[in-house]
Amino acid sequence: MTAVGKNIPHDSARGYVTGEAIYVDDTPFARNELLVDFFWSPIAHGRIRALDTTAACKVPGVVGLYTFRDLQHNLFGPIIKDEILIAESEVTFIGQPIVVIAAETREAIAAAKKAIKIDIEKLDPIFTIEEAKRRKQFIGPTRRIARGDVNAAFASADHVLEGTWINGGQDHFYLESQAAIAWPGEFRALNVLSSTQNPSEVQEVIAHVLGLPINKVVVTTKRMGGAFGGKECQATHPAALAALVAQNTGRPARIVYNKDDDMRVTGGRHPFQNDWKVAFTRDGVLTALKVDLYSDGGAYADLSPAVMGRAMTHVDNAYYIPNVEITGTVCRTNYPPNTAFRGFGGPQGVATIENILQEMAIVLHRDPIEIRMKNCYGIDDRNITPYGQVVKNNMLPRLFREIVERADYHRRVAAVAEFNAESPTHLRGIACTAVKFGISFNTKFLNQANALVNIYLDGSVQVSTGATEMGQGVNTKIRQLVADEFGIDVEQVVLMPTSTEKNNNTSATAASSGADLNGSAAVDACRKIKARLAAVDLGRKLPWRDLISAAYHDRVSLGERGFYSTQGIDWDIDKGCGTPFLYFTQGTAVSEVEIDRFTGMMRILRCDLLMDIGKPINPGIDRGQITGAFIQGVGWLTTEEKRWTPDGDLLTHSPTTYKIPNIQDLPEIFNADWIVNEANTINLRSSKAVGEPPLLLAISVFMAVKNALSYVSNGAIPKLSAPATGEEILMRLTEISRWSGGLPAAVGGLKPAATPVV
Ligand code: HPA
Ligand code: MOS
Repeated sequence: MTAVGKNIPHDSARGYVTGEAIYVDDTPFARNELLVDFFWSPIAHGRIRALDTTAACKVPGVVGLYTFRDLQHNLFGPIIKDEILIAESEVTFIGQPIVVIAAETREAIAAAKKAIKIDIEKLDPIFTIEEAKRRKQFIGPTRRIARGDVNAAFASADHVLEGTWINGGQDHFYLESQAAIAWPGEFRALNVLSSTQNPSEVQEVIAHVLGLPINKVVVTTKRMGGAFGGKECQATHPAALAALVAQNTGRPARIVYNKDDDMRVTGGRHPFQNDWKVAFTRDGVLTALKVDLYSDGGAYADLSPAVMGRAMTHVDNAYYIPNVEITGTVCRTNYPPNTAFRGFGGPQGVATIENILQEMAIVLHRDPIEIRMKNCYGIDDRNITPYGQVVKNNMLPRLFREIVERADYHRRVAAVAEFNAESPTHLRGIACTAVKFGISFNTKFLNQANALVNIYLDGSVQVSTGATEMGQGVNTKIRQLVADEFGIDVEQVVLMPTSTEKNNNTSATAASSGADLNGSAAVDACRKIKARLAAVDLGRKLPWRDLISAAYHDRVSLGERGFYSTQGIDWDIDKGCGTPFLYFTQGTAVSEVEIDRFTGMMRILRCDLLMDIGKPINPGIDRGQITGAFIQGVGWLTTEEKRWTPDGDLLTHSPTTYKIPNIQDLPEIFNADWIVNEANTINLRSSKAVGEPPLLLAISVFMAVKNALSYVSNGAIPKLSAPATGEEILMRLTEISRWSGGLPAAVGGLKPAATPVV
């Protein structure tokens, strides 16, 4: 009876579809409960000259108005303590809280917002990475990773190529907005229900801003309706505002952002603008890479330095580069702070090198896959990353070989070329990219977890860990692991809501490591109990229930705490060197697209994904993670575009203007699979983390678009920035047709496809 490896249904699956699954805002209102919202800065950068809340105070139904003056501490931040919860004299982004409003009704809140009078002197805002660089507005120091001698390699190179990789941001678009409810307890204690990936951080920040010892605050998370990194740090703000109201009024307080407000006031994935230069041989072997990464961090540090760290350790991706110099600088702008988002800087780093390889192939008139395979990390040599970690148990060469077969790559390249030579209306493109994603938090101390396992007299088991369930299935995986440890049915094991009361000082459920870390801690607890049960059983092989009864009557403890910390990882941030990751999750993908030359509209014809995710604890859940992450990446790179007014106010704050993929955007043929990697035993039950890595395979779709454009660019490198929306593609086609002296594509001026360059 082993549960691990089986398609045990997600333990909330039924609840998701019937509506039985409870989210924060499904909690029945308590008698006395207040609604909380905030009046925010209408200006991206300014100095508050005057604030008048007297009229707002008198609005019927308004119970309290609070400013920074009502906080014991206003300054916080997960890496750099530079963030203020409620604006003081300066405002630094549109959406920054200035006045917290507690009221009996939504109508009262709306009226209070209107009645607040504020006079803000406008200061010069920064809205671009360019402008931040010009004005030297950076967050934290520039970091560096280097190996070898790039200048010598450039001096002796057959080819040198340079350019800039530009990608936009992305909204998390979780279906459940940020939400929290705070209930006041006796003697200033607080109980908080929060939709957060990080209950311990919410607990700590609430205690800090209210001047309470941490043990006065209990934060509980039952589940989230999606998070994607957006609730790793930024669930803290609403929870702290609700806690402030509960503390001051002695009444329960609920805050739930509406979708538009959520999109406007929270940060998202970091836009990057990376200047790169590479050297390579005439055979397409990379000899040097110099890249300066710049991200748009928004107004405060949040997790930006760590996101940049992951971008820097992922620009090598699947490729060995002997001489490298990588720098990373976070720019300070007047947008909401950007934050964790599935991939955590990895996608921006990987897209940079995949784009470089794509361009090298154009320059050399080679098939890009040849260039990629030639530069791929080796098994026994050419297997050390720029930061010194050895790529062990490297499946990349095999993943490349097998995806070429499975996707019938070479035949389809020929078919694409033939199609493009004949079609006067459409262009096709195909590309293969890879992923090598480092698993572990890149902040060493975060790689720890604890768990509590309790067995009851009927043999049923409750498990509590620091892992939070956001739909990804971590609870189901832990349930399977625990059932197997005890040799019982999964039905006998339930996962309890995550609470700081049971599991202290936990890390965010993040970095794809929720099951790795918390599952290991749960297994540790089970093994300690099992050792005690063995002493009760004494070889009698008692049925589970009888054994539990015997142990209880023998006065043997039937509860235990487990602990896990990842061994063998190390990272020197100043030297940019070490072994930050326990292992890598790897994969390859081939994608094919078709573009309408007259509208720029793009369709995905086929995607083949092949990964090494070890032995899945739950194959069905992992398949969901692979396809879901991939499509989320497709959204980032092809349809999701944030636009602002010239004053920095977000225009794309609802699904009417911000286009996430829907069912019609799925590839017509979509194959997702994984290999059997028998040599992988480094992690829990030979599994591998899967939450983030597949998102990066969506880069194959972007490169397929670039490949399509290269059929009409007459040997030149087609420019293309992410997201490659229909509009971006049409503009690039129009530009290409201008170079070649034709009319804009939009009026039918594009010539038939030139001879393919690949
Ligand atoms: N991933 C996600 N969250 C994090 C990380 C990481 O690598 N490091 C610190 N917080
Ligand atoms: Mo995630 S982006 O590691 O919360």
